Amino acid sequence: WGVEAYYHLALQELERYAGAPGRVVAAVSGGVDSATAALLARRVFGDRLVPVLVDHGLFREGEVEEVREELERAGLEPVYVDARERFLSKLEGLADCEERRRVIGEEFARVFDELMTEFRAGVFVQGTIYPDVVESGRPGGGRVKTHHNVAGLPTWFREKYAVLEPLRHLYKEEVRELARALGLPDYFLKRHPFPGPGLAARVVGPFNRRKLEVCRRATAIVEKVLRRRGLYDRVWQAFAVVGDDTWVGVKGGSRRHGLVVIVRVVESADAMTADYSRLPYEVLDEISGEITSSIDDVTMVAYAVTGKPPSTIEPC
Ligand code: XMP
Repeated sequence: WGVEAYYHLALQELERYAGAPGRVVAAVSGGVDSATAALLARRVFGDRLVPVLVDHGLFREGEVEEVREELERAGLEPVYVDARERFLSKLEGLADCEERRRVIGEEFARVFDELMTEFRAGVFVQGTIYPDVVESGRPGGGRVKTHHNVAGLPTWFREKYAVLEPLRHLYKEEVRELARALGLPDYFLKRHPFPGPGLAARVVGPFNRRKLEVCRRATAIVEKVLRRRGLYDRVWQAFAVVGDDTWVGVKGGSRRHGLVVIVRVVESADAMTADYSRLPYEVLDEISGEITSSIDDVTMVAYAVTGKPPSTIEPC
């Protein structure tokens, strides 16, 4: 299908719920998928649509403020829910990312359940896209990742509410094309994909706030250097990963064990396959220099040079 034909089909599907009583809640994160789904829903449900941004504490540096402003400019001013403590305390110590995705999916469902009750809403809209559905597969049957919005969203939530996912047949590029046609600002079109579980997908080993903060700072540096070098728009995703590996370093004239940060920059057309980006050495030098000089806890920066497959884009 062309994107225009898909647009009409998606609207038709949403219109089936136009008579549902009460408000309609759309989960938004600042990403192009959820913003596009919310915009489609706005066309059908008008002022009854309430965009909601749940802050799980796993966003990048400055992202929440920026996203709130940009959503407002796009006509989707969100209700902001600060749920940082709720999520972070439940993730503390969890080593398995699949377990984290389930915990995040479950917590999202609880937060939205409370909100939907408050807003007397029976319909929930989210920006699930085709790769989320494919990768979630079935346990033991091709599951790559339990995407929090698909396999991670508990059955009780799907039974209690009408969960509408108008973009679930589209790849990212098709979503971007639709978003452009709907007039969504460049901010959304040019953003790199960012996983729903946020930085929790980039902290390897037992989850803790120290690694989360290092990941957040280092990711900000990776993005900043790529923007400065005019490379940000040319790559699919670019970020930092933090695990438990350490490296002996010399900082302030004395020996210390610091963390190893892995930088991952990939090029891809649809996230189903990806290749690592052949960044110039000077760019890698700049990233490494800024990370080790401005994050006291880090003594080594490594660059990930394996494509997908066999690796996935995110580390876990
Ligand atoms: P992987 O790591 O499987 O990622 O190669 C493919 C694309 O999906 C994003 N990703 C996620 N997105 N929830 C999401 O909404 C998730 O749990 C998740 N895991 C990975 C990843 O950033 C990449 O663009």
